[in-house]
Amino acid sequence: MAYKIAIIVGSLRKDSLNRKVARSICGLRGDNLDCSMIEIGDLPLYNQDLDGDPPEQWVRFRQQIAAADGILFCSPEYNRGIPGVLKNAIDVGSRPYGQSVFDKKPAAIVTASPGSIGGFGSNHQIRQAAVFLNMPVMQQPEAYLGHVSDGSFDESGCLKDGPLKDLVGVLAHAFHDWVDMIHRSRAALAEDSAHAAQTKDKEHA
Ligand SMILES: Cc1cc2nc3c(=O)[nH]c(=O)nc-3n(C[C@H](O)[C@H](O)[C@H](O)COP(=O)(O)O)c2cc1C
Repeated sequence: MAYKIAIIVGSLRKDSLNRKVARSICGLRGDNLDCSMIEIGDLPLYNQDLDGDPPEQWVRFRQQIAAADGILFCSPEYNRGIPGVLKNAIDVGSRPYGQSVFDKKPAAIVTASPGSIGGFGSNHQIRQAAVFLNMPVMQQPEAYLGHVSDGSFDESGCLKDGPLKDLVGVLAHAFHDWVDMIHRSRAALAEDSAHAAQTKDKEHA
């Protein structure tokens, strides 16, 4: 069974390197990850006053995230932090209070940059939000992809053979295994609880 993965790219740029990296992760694990790019550029800025009558774009975004088995964040770093457009999407999905669509969704965070530190600052700001939102985030391998450029990809936007593609392949496999482990563990726990409840019922019968 392929897991449904919602990909959120923190760049609106047409030729975004991060979007291409996201596509490569899906391409390398296409048999087990059923990926959809979730667009965030049209989301009105989060405003708590609108919680009672939310814009249709918020509703659409929340439904798309709710339907996913896992979330893949691929984002640039802007001024050593999380791009505003991505932070807005996270805020939109996190509300109304108590109804966050991110709750318990397994996630991975990948940041790519032409710079040498691979968006480390942005990566950890996304991770910080994910901790608060109760998302189990894949710990390893960490994915600060540095020195990424247009030259890292071929004309069709796929990663060229080399160390970056190898690393992204490792990431893709690790993310699948992470999502799989979380969902299998939850299913096993639910089965155990159902079994325990049945046993208790029989004892009281
Ligand atoms: C507003 C802005 C701020 C940026 N700040 C950083 C930064 O802090 N660290 C970094 O590595 N690159 C920074 N960059 C360069 C981006 O990494 C580069 O433009 C990258 O290609 C953006 O990702 P994308 O290709 O997915 O759009 C910045 C770019 C912009 C437009």
